[in-house]
Amino acid sequence: MKHFGDGRDWFFENRYGMFIHWGLYSIDGWHEQVQWRRRIPKAEYVKRVAKFNPVKYDPDEWMRLAKESGMDYVIFTTKHHDGFCMWDTKETDYNIMRTPYGKDVLAMLAKSCRKYGIKLCLYYSCPDWHHPNSINHGGDHELLKQNPGDEPDIRKYISFVKRQATELCSNYGKIYGFFWDIPPRVKDPSINRLLRKLQPGIMINDRGYDKGDYDTPERKVPAGGEFSRPTEACQSVGDQSWGYREGEDYYTRRFLMQSIAKIMSMGGNYVLNVGPKPDGTIPKEASAILKDIGKWYRRVKPAITAESSSKYLDHENFMLTRDGNKLYVVCHKDLPTSGIVLSPIGIMPKSAILLNNGKRLTVKLEVTPKHYRSRPFIHIQGIPVEKLIDEPLVIKLEFKALSDKMLSEMSARAKNKEYIF
Ligand code: GLC
Repeated sequence: MKHFGDGRDWFFENRYGMFIHWGLYSIDGWHEQVQWRRRIPKAEYVKRVAKFNPVKYDPDEWMRLAKESGMDYVIFTTKHHDGFCMWDTKETDYNIMRTPYGKDVLAMLAKSCRKYGIKLCLYYSCPDWHHPNSINHGGDHELLKQNPGDEPDIRKYISFVKRQATELCSNYGKIYGFFWDIPPRVKDPSINRLLRKLQPGIMINDRGYDKGDYDTPERKVPAGGEFSRPTEACQSVGDQSWGYREGEDYYTRRFLMQSIAKIMSMGGNYVLNVGPKPDGTIPKEASAILKDIGKWYRRVKPAITAESSSKYLDHENFMLTRDGNKLYVVCHKDLPTSGIVLSPIGIMPKSAILLNNGKRLTVKLEVTPKHYRSRPFIHIQGIPVEKLIDEPLVIKLEFKALSDKMLSEMSARAKNKEYIF
């Protein structure tokens, strides 16, 4: 994928992040949009401010979890749709300083990020169910009607957003990314220009006031082989909510790893979300999932974060990535067989290693009965598909020499159906 050639390129070197949804809604333990989805009146919802007291909040603990899980960056919900601000903002009283906790949790997180070398990115919701000037006309993620006493005014609201974004991009050190949520109907490129001026090198997503730098497929793996635009897929450890949820339906580790394998091999970044509890701790089920995935991720990282080369290979169960003379076969689905043919690639590798356990696999260049009219292709056998069933398999093939030209010639031959017979 074409890089920007400026400070934003950090994004291509740091592919795995932790998304954190934390706010007043964690008190309900239901869903981050509980105010809207359960039709709670604003006057009722705000009572949570007096109850928010995350005495066990320890951002160092969060960052150690991120590190241990192999993550490079974090995206933190500074303001979700409920409008509650998780930093010491001067623009509204509806913020963390007014809770019994009374400390700037974002400042604490930013400090911890620096300490652990984790890059900090900020999430900010365009809809706001609290601010009097925000628009709530029953549109996407808007309340059905304004709160009593509201004075909807898009110009005033945008200027409030700009002042808040200025605080966020001025007072917390280096901000690597900005994750707007719920694309607003009104477009205004001056907002992202402001962010870029305050934080050169900031990566901005596609859900804000213009199309930004990168796409954000959510909870799904898009069809296709390789992303054409910078991409960061987001997914949560649980199926029901992004914020803390009691009795969450957690995804299986295998399901999450398969989607990470696919997205990253397509050239995308991946952020996996956790929803801390009202006491500030990350639920132990969630941290166990992150740690377990991290163990697999560390073993296969060089492969799945290498450059996507899937355009040379079209196979439903695996994708290809390449790093110099190495090709990686990333099996993002369960393999139905213990042997695979890498049609149309016909160069004999020096070795084939299963990165999951470091063991060598049998590899030959041959014409198999299924490809009897073709040239010899790489055939890998003895893959322990019945034994290693808990995680996506990744195979490293090392060659004496390998180039894009060689790969594209082979794939062109296959596309033109140049058979030997
Ligand atoms: C969706 C949800 C929102 C969540 C976001 C994360 O837009 O509506 O609650 O914060 O996904 O990407």
